[in-house]
Amino acid sequence: MKPLKTHGTHILSTGSAVPSLCINNDMLSNIIDTSDQWISTRTGIKERRILANHQSIIDLATEASFEALNKGFLDAQELDLILFATSTPNDLFGSASQVQTIIGAYKAAAFDITAACSGFVIALAIAHQFIQTGVYANVLVIGADTLSQWVDWSDRTTCILFGDGAGAAILQKSQDNDILTFELNTNGQESHQLSIAYKSNQKLDTSKQVNVAPKNKSQYQYLTMNGKEVYKFAVSSVPASIVKCLQKTELEVEAITWLLLHQANQRILETVAHKLKISNNRILSNIQFYGNTSAASIPIALNEAFNTGHICNGDIIAISGFGAGLTWGTILVKWNIIQ
Ligand code: ACO
Repeated sequence: MKPLKTHGTHILSTGSAVPSLCINNDMLSNIIDTSDQWISTRTGIKERRILANHQSIIDLATEASFEALNKGFLDAQELDLILFATSTPNDLFGSASQVQTIIGAYKAAAFDITAACSGFVIALAIAHQFIQTGVYANVLVIGADTLSQWVDWSDRTTCILFGDGAGAAILQKSQDNDILTFELNTNGQESHQLSIAYKSNQKLDTSKQVNVAPKNKSQYQYLTMNGKEVYKFAVSSVPASIVKCLQKTELEVEAITWLLLHQANQRILETVAHKLKISNNRILSNIQFYGNTSAASIPIALNEAFNTGHICNGDIIAISGFGAGLTWGTILVKWNIIQ
């Protein structure tokens, strides 16, 4: 039997987009019983970007994708696959196909991946598999979410945390491999800790032999979260996931140049770093400007850190996502784009 030929995956370029409407903590304290002091000290968040009525998640996803395509000098027609990580599509059947059309990636297969705040890491791992096996050469991975449309703006325990945004990365078949390893996990037994559950507001009486059409359209509940449990889950699972990746690659923790975690709470980022004995100045964080943008938070932070010259060629980045599902995972990347 012929050995399976595997290819390397190169991160070609990145992009990101956020809405222009900026809501700071003081503005929120005018509509709910909260304060800048409470939000800043508990989460590190100072402001977040919120989608305006005339905008959609597709606008953000396409803007981020165009930036990645332009920076990678790649024509959209060269894309083989688009993976759209989102839990807030503007069509339950999937939003990836709308992005495909707008950017003109007519030859690409395109589909959504639903995994909340872990979505981008999971999508990167999937893209890597398609490239390694030689199936595809150019894959656009998008992480985008607009949770402002799904939170209860009268619930101060959740609405202060979230913002909207999109990020993108193009992965390309290459001789060298920028993706050193990855590992992914799910614990469905704890899915109730964080969800946007389907709201069953109608029952079809199947005992009757008549066709009764449901009168109301289906709905989902607001986002609900057990903050304390999610916090505990994050600070225990994420360090363990990073350690597993280090063991697989036989690297020491000192090899990690940057820790890029899902931007959920500054205290979570610092606690994870502390547990791994990584100093705070090696944490990539932009949470104060955007809050928790779910699947978008990692690619936005990655793009900004590269654009501002923080990430350099040869850096090793431990990228971890965690969130609803519960899902979590890490991907170790060796950065190989020269500015
Ligand atoms: N403003 C003022 N007071 C508030 C607010 C607010 N916005 N929210 C809650 N409080 C009050 C509570 O009512 C409580 O008051 P009490 O003591 O009188 O009962 C007090 O503040 C403390 O509340 P806690 O819930 O204990 O606050 P905690 O320190 O746990 O912080 C937080 C809450 C920030 C949500 C934290 O638990 C957290 O970050 N959890 C993790 C969230 C997360 O990481 N999510 C990621 C996944 S997201 C995804 O996958 C989509």
